[in-house]
Amino acid sequence: MHFLFWTAAGVLVAGTILRAEPQIDVENRVNALLARMTLDEKIGQMSQSTSMKTPLAESIKAEIRAGRWGSFLNAGSPADRAEAQRIAIHESRLGIPLLFGRDVIHGYKTVFPIPLGQAATWDRELVEQAAREAATEAATEGIRWTFAPMIDIARDPRWGRVAESLGEDPYLASALATAMVRGFQGKSLADALSVAACAKHFVGYGAAEAGRDYNSAWIPEILLREVYLPPFRAARDSGVATFMTGFEALNGVPATGNRFLLRDILRGEWKYDGLVVSDYEAVTEMIRHGFARDASDAAREAATAGIDMEMVSTAYHDHLKSLVERGAVEPAQIDAAVRNILRLKFRLGLFDEQIPPVGEAKPNAESLALAERAALESVVLLKNESGLLPLTEARRTVAVIGPLADSPLDQMGTWTMDGLRDRVETPLAALRSIMGADRVLYAPGLQTSRDTSDAGFAGAVDAARRSDVVLLFLGEEQILSGEARSRAFLDLPGAQEALFTNVLRAGKPVVVVIMAGRPLTFHSVAERARAVLYAWHPGTMGGPAIAQLLLGRRAPSGRLPITFPRSVGQVPIYYAHLNTGRPPSETELGIPMGTPLRPEGYTSKYIDVDFTPEYPFGYGLSYTTFEYSNLTISAPVLHAGQKLTVSAQIANRGKREGTETVQFYVRDLVASVVQPVRKLRGFERVTLQAGESRTVSFTLTPQDLAFYNQQMKLVTEPGKFQVWIAPDAVRGAMGEFELQ
Ligand code: GLC
Repeated sequence: MHFLFWTAAGVLVAGTILRAEPQIDVENRVNALLARMTLDEKIGQMSQSTSMKTPLAESIKAEIRAGRWGSFLNAGSPADRAEAQRIAIHESRLGIPLLFGRDVIHGYKTVFPIPLGQAATWDRELVEQAAREAATEAATEGIRWTFAPMIDIARDPRWGRVAESLGEDPYLASALATAMVRGFQGKSLADALSVAACAKHFVGYGAAEAGRDYNSAWIPEILLREVYLPPFRAARDSGVATFMTGFEALNGVPATGNRFLLRDILRGEWKYDGLVVSDYEAVTEMIRHGFARDASDAAREAATAGIDMEMVSTAYHDHLKSLVERGAVEPAQIDAAVRNILRLKFRLGLFDEQIPPVGEAKPNAESLALAERAALESVVLLKNESGLLPLTEARRTVAVIGPLADSPLDQMGTWTMDGLRDRVETPLAALRSIMGADRVLYAPGLQTSRDTSDAGFAGAVDAARRSDVVLLFLGEEQILSGEARSRAFLDLPGAQEALFTNVLRAGKPVVVVIMAGRPLTFHSVAERARAVLYAWHPGTMGGPAIAQLLLGRRAPSGRLPITFPRSVGQVPIYYAHLNTGRPPSETELGIPMGTPLRPEGYTSKYIDVDFTPEYPFGYGLSYTTFEYSNLTISAPVLHAGQKLTVSAQIANRGKREGTETVQFYVRDLVASVVQPVRKLRGFERVTLQAGESRTVSFTLTPQDLAFYNQQMKLVTEPGKFQVWIAPDAVRGAMGEFELQ
C-alpha cells in the first residue's frame, strides 16, 4: 500500500509539473536570465526605439551589441530585422532577442476593412480570420508584436480614431476584441506565425473631451467599469500578451502614470502578467501634462505605476539607473518590468528559434478572398427606396462619379503603411470588369474629397445625363481619418454635397456610396438619394465587394456598430443612454433640422433637430425583409443560479436569401443606479432562404444583469426586466420577466 501510495503521488506531482511545465519552465528561464543581467541591460530591455532605419546603421548595430534596446517599432526592412536579430542573439553579452513591433491594425499587405467596418460585420469568426491573416503576413516579415486591437469605446465621431475602434458598445467590442486577440495570437504565441497582440489604449482614450484627440477624459468610475473597461477585461481574459496605455489624462492623471489603472485594476484586480508598453513618447509627455517635473520625474512615475517598456522617448535610458541608485525607484520594480518583457519573449519562442528567414509576405488568392468577404459583410445598406438596388440588367449604363470611386490609397483607410496600393481593386475597376467598360462612364467631379472647386461638375452632370443610373461615391479620403484627425463638423468635406445636388439635376436615380472612417452627417443627401450604402474604408477588395452588392450578386448584411447622428450638435449620442426624468415622446419626433419649431414641451430634446439619431446602433437593411414574432421567455421569474431562455421567430418575408444579425437587448427597469434603456447582451448572424423562418434563442443568467452600484460593487437587484430580440437598438419584439 505504502509503495502504491508514493507511486500514485509521484505520478501526480510529475503530472502537475508536466502539465504546468511550459509555465514553470518559462518562469525558471526568466528568473535565471534576470539574475545574470546588469542594471544597464535591464533598462535596455525596457526601452523601445523607432530609430532603426534602412540600411542598418553601424551605430544601431553597436547599440544592439551593448543591449541598449529590447524592442524596435516600425523599423527597417525584413532583411534589416533579421540582421539586427542575428547581432542581438550572437553578438550581445546575454544574447537576448529583440522584439519587433508594428501597427498591424486591419491587415498587413492584404488590407481588410478598418476596424469600425469590421465591427459592422458583427461576425466574430470572420474578424478572427482577418486578424490571423494579418498576423501570418506580418510574422513572415519578422514582426512578432502588433499594436492592436484598439478597443477604446468611441461614442464621438468627431474623434478621428473612431475609425480604429470597434464602435460604441462594450458587449460588441468585447466579443470582437476577443476574436482579434485569438486571431493575432493563434493557438500558441510560440507559433512562428503568431504575433503578440496589444490591448490599447488603456483606458478611456476614446472619451477625449469634444472628440479632440489626446484631450482630457473625465470618466466616473461607474462608467469606466460599465463601458470603457469591459473590452480590456475581455482581451485580458482571452490572453492578450500586452497592453498599451493611452495618451490622455484620465480624471486628471495621465494613463501612463496612473497607478489606479495599472496597479489597482490591471495587476491587482485582474492579476495580469503581460507586458505594458507606453504609447509613443507618452512617458515624457507627462511633463507637458503637468504631472512630472522633468524626464527623470516622468521615468519615476511611469516605472512606479508599472510601465514595463517605454516607447521611443528615452527617460528610462537616461534616468532610471540614477533613480534606482538613489532609491527613488525600487530595484524590485525594475525586475518586475523586465520579467514581463522576458516572459513575453520566451512565450513567443524568440529564444528558441533560429534567426527568422527573411520572408516576403504577399497577398494570395485566399487572403484576397477573405478581404473581399470582410468588405462584403462590412457594408451597411442605409436606404433603398422602392428597391432600386440591386441594379437590374435594365440599368444598361451607369455613371460612376466621385474621386473615391477610383482611389486605392483612400480605399484602404487609416494605418495601412504596409498595404499594397497596386493590389487594391477599386469600385470603378470592379464595375468595369463585371459590366464591361462600355457600360460604365466615369467622371471624378472633384479632385479629392476636400476639393472645393466645381470645375469638374459639368463633366459629372454630363456623365449622369448619358447614364441610366448614377453611382455617386462620396465620403472622406484616408488622411481625414485616424490619429490626430479630429473634425469639428461631420458633414461631407469639400464641395461633395454641391456635386450631389448638381448631379441630381440630371434627373437620373442616384445611388450614394459613402467611404469614410467615421459616421458622417449627410441628412439632405440621404433624403434625396434613392439608395445609400455605407462602405467605411473597405480595404484591398472593397471594389469587387461594392460592385457585387450594387449588382445583386451578393446582398448587404452589415449593421451599424455606432450610432449615426443627424447633426454633430447631438454628439455624444448612443443607444445605451439613460431615460432621464423627462424623456421626449413620440409626438415630439420629426422637428426638422435648423428650424426651431414647437419650442413647447419640457422634455429632453432639441427644438431645432429631431432628437432621434439619423440611423440607430444595430441598423442595416438587406435585399429582403425580416419579420420578428412570437417572443417567448422560458419562465416569468428568474431565480439566482438559474437561467432564462428568450426566443423569437425570425422569418424571411422577401424573395431572396438574406443574412440578418439578430440582436438581444435587456433593460433593468428599476435599480439603485439608473440603468440604460437597452444594453446589448447577445447577437447572432442568421442566413435565411426566401420564405424560411427560424427560432433564435438567447440565454440569460443573473450575472448578465449585474451592474456596478454606488459602492462600486458588481450586483444584481431583484425587480422587473424587459428584453428584446431585435433588428436594431430601437425596434424589436419585447417581453418582460422578473428577477428574484
Ligand atoms: C501612435 C498611436 C498608437 C500606435 C503607436 C505606435 O501614436 O497612438 O496607437 O500604436 O503610436 O505607432
